Amino acid sequence: MAITKVTAQDFDKVNAAVTELRDYFTNRSCELGRPLTYNIRTYGCQLNESDSEKLSGYLEQMGLVPVEEGPADVNFFNTCSIRENADDRLYGNLGVYKAHKKQNRDMIIAVCGCMMKVDKNIQKIKNSYPFVDLLFDPQQLHLMPVLLKRSISSKKTAVDIEDVDYIADDNNMPVSRKRKFRALVPIMYGCNNFCTYCIVPFTRGRERSRDFDEIIKQMEELAKEGYKEVMLLGQNVNSYGKDLGENRSFPDLLEACAKIKGFSRIRFMTSHPKDLSDRVIEIMAKYDSIETHLHLPCQSGSDAVLKRMNRHYTREQFVRTAKLFRQMIPEGAISTDIIVGFPGETEEDFEQTLSLVKEIRFDSAFTFQYSKRPGTKAAEYEDQVPADVVTERFGRLLELQNEIVFESNKSLVGKTMEVLIEGESNTAPDILTGRTKCNHLVNFTIPAELGISKSASELEGYLGMVKITNAKPYSVEGVLECLKYE
Ligand code: SAH
Ligand code: SF4
Ligand code: F3S
Repeated sequence: MAITKVTAQDFDKVNAAVTELRDYFTNRSCELGRPLTYNIRTYGCQLNESDSEKLSGYLEQMGLVPVEEGPADVNFFNTCSIRENADDRLYGNLGVYKAHKKQNRDMIIAVCGCMMKVDKNIQKIKNSYPFVDLLFDPQQLHLMPVLLKRSISSKKTAVDIEDVDYIADDNNMPVSRKRKFRALVPIMYGCNNFCTYCIVPFTRGRERSRDFDEIIKQMEELAKEGYKEVMLLGQNVNSYGKDLGENRSFPDLLEACAKIKGFSRIRFMTSHPKDLSDRVIEIMAKYDSIETHLHLPCQSGSDAVLKRMNRHYTREQFVRTAKLFRQMIPEGAISTDIIVGFPGETEEDFEQTLSLVKEIRFDSAFTFQYSKRPGTKAAEYEDQVPADVVTERFGRLLELQNEIVFESNKSLVGKTMEVLIEGESNTAPDILTGRTKCNHLVNFTIPAELGISKSASELEGYLGMVKITNAKPYSVEGVLECLKYE
């Protein structure tokens, strides 16, 4: 796959398409006597979320208005290919949108994201869902306006799937951020690791780090604009800068970001255990604005499985890193990802995973049943674990992990913790939600005697001190004691 830099001329074409589409949608809106709307469904990880925010940026430049739920006049499905059920969700939804499009022939339906990097999916959409108006893959995000224009003017499906690994730097694209206090900042794209179960290196291409100074400039602007939380994103942030040269490594970047004034929380993910250096942990401990939460996916507790997964670390090395973190940041939290039922996983291997979970006592874990992804090495392995065995093991892991999380939540009761307020919770209108510095989810009330007149949405991005009063299995509850700044 060739790596090509997107040129200024490419962006001239993109911007010309945005202007033409803005005129087109304005005319249509006048004809209809109402604003035209758009909706994006995002199926994947934070990088997909970040891509959706860029699509929103373009669509809003075209004069379209966002709606929370589709169908809208312009609909995007930003897909994920990480597990099989992610693929199934797209096809289910496209079936539903076929009926919507029959009612409204001018409706636009676009499919993008990681599934569009897999030929089989592209063919399936072209053959079975011919009403889809445009298709493009994550490396071609910036081309969306050009394709949309082509599709509208030719009334045919516009496709631009070619095997080129573009670098479209963030700074060239408009962004409409979903949360007014949080900015997602990709620092690198792609992955070189080829874990044998994983589709990402095929869908996102090889690692490309963004320019160090460009990122810092962007961060300074975000701080000036008033963003309180930033999340540095990459599939393996710890290998940031390997393609850039000296003093351009992830710890250098993290430290430079931490020195920028104005952020309450700097978050980052994902850390690959093989590349996480002790220096990152030292920097996390040193700067108050960096969250005290480390997402460190172990995937398995068995060395034999880790080897066949191509993870390049042993259980012992993982435990050393996790324990170093616990020692240096005792109030911190570690979360992880675990796959159950990787091909060849024996009962003993699985018990190793259970024992690792007991040893590290992860503060939270994303647990997954292994899903065979065509094209990956593990999909060819012959010793696939039977589905009933996977389900049974998965249940045991979940039970153990839930117990640990509940206990860890109970240990917080009575403490007063700093919480970054995220707004109204979805439990009840007078309950707000936020996260502690180590990423615990806190739902809390504001006592009337505090005399705070701001609404939940006005409080988004504020820091508050919350006294934890009760533990639930996946969250804690509390009462606001004070806001940290007015
Ligand atoms: N880059 C990150 C995570 C990427 S995907 C990392 O290396 O940790 C998020 C998680 O999905 C992975 O950590 C893994 O636990 C899970 N995952 C990836 N492929 C999978 C598959 N084929 N089946 C089940 N889970 C999978
Ligand atoms: Fe996938 Fe492994 Fe890369 Fe993570 S590090 S994206 S799991 S190949
Ligand atoms: Fe999914 Fe692509 Fe992210 S496969 S997890 S959306 S990088």
